Amino acid sequence: MKVTGALAETSERLGAAGCESPSVDAEILVAHVLGTRRSELALDASRTLSTHEEDTLESLVARREAREPLAYVLGEWGFRRLVLRVDRRVLVPRPETEVVVDRCLAHLQGLAGPRVLDVGTGSGAIALAIADEHPGARVTGVDASPGALEVARANVVRTGLAVELREWDLFTGLPEGPWDLVVSNPPYVLPEEVGSLEPEVREWEPRQALIGVGSAEAVLRGARDVLAPTGALVLEIAAGDSSRIEGLLGELGYAEVRTTTDLAGRDRVVEGTHA
Ligand SMILES: C[S@@+](CC[C@H](N)C(=O)[O-])C[C@H]1O[C@@H](n2cnc3c(N)ncnc32)[C@H](O)[C@@H]1O
Repeated sequence: MKVTGALAETSERLGAAGCESPSVDAEILVAHVLGTRRSELALDASRTLSTHEEDTLESLVARREAREPLAYVLGEWGFRRLVLRVDRRVLVPRPETEVVVDRCLAHLQGLAGPRVLDVGTGSGAIALAIADEHPGARVTGVDASPGALEVARANVVRTGLAVELREWDLFTGLPEGPWDLVVSNPPYVLPEEVGSLEPEVREWEPRQALIGVGSAEAVLRGARDVLAPTGALVLEIAAGDSSRIEGLLGELGYAEVRTTTDLAGRDRVVEGTHA
């Protein structure tokens, strides 16, 4: 089979399976198998795939047809300047979470060696991006899932960045500070919302990473006890939950409370400083 044929067939199969962007996924999968860039596929259009490449592509397409997230099929995913290992033990890092990192970096600006805590670190995406983009930051990531921490550990090794990892349940309070920044993208899908999610999320991503009742509240209460006097809290929240979370922050005495929208214009990141 030639590359053009592989692209057409893959795209058709993924479209029939209900994938949202079948031709983009097809290009990414074929490029991955050929070891080339998506942007360079046109140069290889008339190349014939080897039997090994055809077999590899078949196994990847079959997984994607079953609506396994593209990130798990590839085994890695880009987040900010990093490419991180991901599998079923962790949430796939989302573009909206890149905005969380922007807000964290804004708070850390000008601080030498700030202490940063990432609660529910998953793949380590937020913690590692901060360590990467604010050199000198002393970052700790905590998570209740031993499987997630294994993936985060692999990402520490892969990126060569210094992030300390600890198993920790956020409902027991937060690890002792003082922290200059506490950041969290806690699970915030309500149990009754799970049925309406895309199969990629509903069937494949860890429930522990998705469903959370009271996690955001636990983090913002816990952070109050461990933040440094001028420290900040940055929290990713469910779209539509900003006024409730802003209200809670105000009640708990946080100052400079504000919300930032994600790339789609939805309220997504709430922050405040320790008053
Ligand atoms: C929405 S995911 C965020 C993952 C990563 N920080 C990101 O932004 O891509 C939430 C994470 O919180 C972790 N988690 C869930 N319940 C927790 C708990 N009680 N204590 C600590 N971590 C928890 C999950 O294992 C998961 O890795």
